[in-house]
Amino acid sequence: MTGEFTGERLKTLLGDCPIGRDLRFHTSTDSTNEELSRWANEGAPHGAAVVADQQTGGRGRLGRTWFSPPGVNSHTSVLVRDALPPKRQSLLVYLAGVAVAETIRECAGISPFLKWPNDVHVSGKKISGVLCESPAVPGAPAVVLGIGINVNGRGEDFPEEIRDTAASLSQITGRQFDRALLLSSLYRTLDRLYKSFRHDPATVFALWKQFAGFPNVTYRILHNGATIQGGAVDLDADGALLLRDGQGRLKKIHSGEVLEYMREGVEDASGH
Ligand code: BTN
Repeated sequence: MTGEFTGERLKTLLGDCPIGRDLRFHTSTDSTNEELSRWANEGAPHGAAVVADQQTGGRGRLGRTWFSPPGVNSHTSVLVRDALPPKRQSLLVYLAGVAVAETIRECAGISPFLKWPNDVHVSGKKISGVLCESPAVPGAPAVVLGIGINVNGRGEDFPEEIRDTAASLSQITGRQFDRALLLSSLYRTLDRLYKSFRHDPATVFALWKQFAGFPNVTYRILHNGATIQGGAVDLDADGALLLRDGQGRLKKIHSGEVLEYMREGVEDASGH
């Protein structure tokens, strides 16, 4: 049995958790990232969160759309707004990834794979994605952590173009999940990890690399029009991915599109 997915129930489950203390819950909105950016513009505080059952304009990385039908998935955005140094703001994508991975492990009993920079995969399929944005707003700088999780959808419900590459928690485990419980766990995990990250990102980085299978993973990445293939070595202090290519050269990648990843001892998987 899964409980009701409402703002009131989520608030009750959250108790005194600082993330989500200021909460806006929508049956439908364009995009929770958009909605939270508008709210940040009007002064939303650190920890403010937006949840939507459905998004009519859900956005992903690299200009993609994010499949956001009503009734099955989790779409949320959380505001970080407490004077983090700008360099550290760009590392928040790793914090969000670890929070999602730990939440899924706790709620679904499966250990996901984090694919650089912002995807959460299980059995080679994408079950969650993170989109971090820094809208220009008056007052303290704001970073919006947008997190989409495919929770209770069936395979046939996904659009054809992502049916082979995406999956839901329910498809993988054969169970239905209570989305309010899942989100309350996510917010608590974000809160706990954020406190550690704010003091020193090293622990969160180490967790991210553990979920990302470093150093036993090889990436093929489209970067500035060229394809780079190499074994994952590390994340540097700026959050760039360090790969060692076939000639032994260290490549530093700040952004790019993963075309493919290979994990030692695990089946190959498409990068999407
Ligand atoms: C990606 O994998 O490309 C990132 C997907 C991020 C989707 C989430 S759903 C909640 C939030 N609102 C959006 O419009 N996008 C993010």
